[in-house]
Amino acid sequence: MAKDTVTITDNVTGKTVELPIYHGTQGPAAVDISRFYSELGYVTYDPGFQSTASCHSSITYIDGQQGVLQYRGYPIEQLAEKSSFLEVAHLLLYGELPKQEELVGFTRNITRHTMINETLKNFYNGFNHDAHPMAIMVGVVGSLSAFYHDALDIRNPQHREIAAHRLIAKMPTIAAACYKHSIGEPFVYPRNNLSYCGNLLNMMFSVPCEEYVVDPVAERALDLIFILHADHEQNASTSTIRLAGSSAANPFACVASGIAALWGPAHGGANEAVLHMLDEIGSVDNIPKYIEKAKDKNDPFRLMGFGHRIYRNFDPRATLIRKMCHEVLTKLGKQDDPLFELALKLEEVALNDDYFKERKLYPNVDFYSGIIYKVLGIPTNMFTVMFSIARTVGWVAQWMEMIGDPNQRIARPRQLYDGAAKRDYVQVDRR
Ligand code: SDX
Repeated sequence: MAKDTVTITDNVTGKTVELPIYHGTQGPAAVDISRFYSELGYVTYDPGFQSTASCHSSITYIDGQQGVLQYRGYPIEQLAEKSSFLEVAHLLLYGELPKQEELVGFTRNITRHTMINETLKNFYNGFNHDAHPMAIMVGVVGSLSAFYHDALDIRNPQHREIAAHRLIAKMPTIAAACYKHSIGEPFVYPRNNLSYCGNLLNMMFSVPCEEYVVDPVAERALDLIFILHADHEQNASTSTIRLAGSSAANPFACVASGIAALWGPAHGGANEAVLHMLDEIGSVDNIPKYIEKAKDKNDPFRLMGFGHRIYRNFDPRATLIRKMCHEVLTKLGKQDDPLFELALKLEEVALNDDYFKERKLYPNVDFYSGIIYKVLGIPTNMFTVMFSIARTVGWVAQWMEMIGDPNQRIARPRQLYDGAAKRDYVQVDRR
């Protein structure tokens, strides 16, 4: 029983209700309002969920004021410097950094699930070559339950685990096939002797007619970007996964719903939108004009890659990606990349502008990631696909946490109804 409480008095009826306060490990405490309606007759109203915790979770913690991001308590800066994407995947899924033999076993499990059913490849022929790859991802990932129905009892922990491993393992294969379909090249099978990111690069860029050698700079850059994108508390796509999963939908359908939510330009689609924005701005000389457009309420233009619902300080991931951008461009001999120069200048101007300072709008994870993807040869329309590969780890970790909670119930929000009051049907000849 919670020892701290908050008492709310309805000044209309004089009724009061005492509600428990729950304290977490870090971050804001929570008031349990589940009895609010039954005791006071009101539903609570919080569009966009600015002040609403939809669940309890022990996976990821963000402090937006301090610009802090932790996976299972480990600061993102330490994981970025010292860990690997699959090691972080193990941490997010199981709660602990793996011992050496655990990491070897986990890596082997993921590696051995990277192939997709050959029949699945027929799906791609149903899409035109210019289909957006995120549309293909939603369709193909959603169809996986049609192939892997041997382990879909979500109340069985082993089934949950194999579905999680299958999703993490197959996302790069499905994603690379989207790219190959768009350029009319043959799909490339996964190679068990390559790393997770090396395999993805090979499936995307190798061709049957010559040897492809994975560039270690690109491999490490991708691994780091995936670490930074792996999870992020209850963002829009993760909340979508939890809502879909709360109905006991199968994990493949849930991840397909998360991919759909991530696609939005206000969310994961922003990395693609940032590159389109930088291309539209074109040169440093045009920055003042676009800064004014971003501030103009009558102009739909927004500074893509800027702002965040939680971070009212630097997104720590943006800081790490900016640093990596410079390192990768230098290593690849492209330190004078005009897009990077333009992005740095745009950030500098925005951060010195009162409009952005007053609203605490800083670069987020999407502001620089596209520049690295582009220099690695990844086309703009594949940027959000890359985000979905990495975020699949967080999605399945959060899904497993939710489904594994014995108190889990279907999520069913209420509403404030402001439509027509009750009225009687009117025959068409009297309307
Ligand atoms: C991701 O939730 C997560 O954790 C997401 C994510 C993850 O890892 O899962 O971090 C990934 O989605 C990052 C965000 C990527 N989206 C973008 O970069 C798109 C551009 N950003 C905005 O659309 C916006 O900042 C959001 C969507 C990110 C946040 O929106 P909020 O919290 O609803 O903020 P808001 O729209 O209420 O904005 C507050 C004010 C408004 O001005 P006023 O009404 O106060 O005058 O700030 C302004 C907005 O107009 N504003 C911007 C702006 N973002 C907010 N003005 C210009 N350019 C922007 N980018």
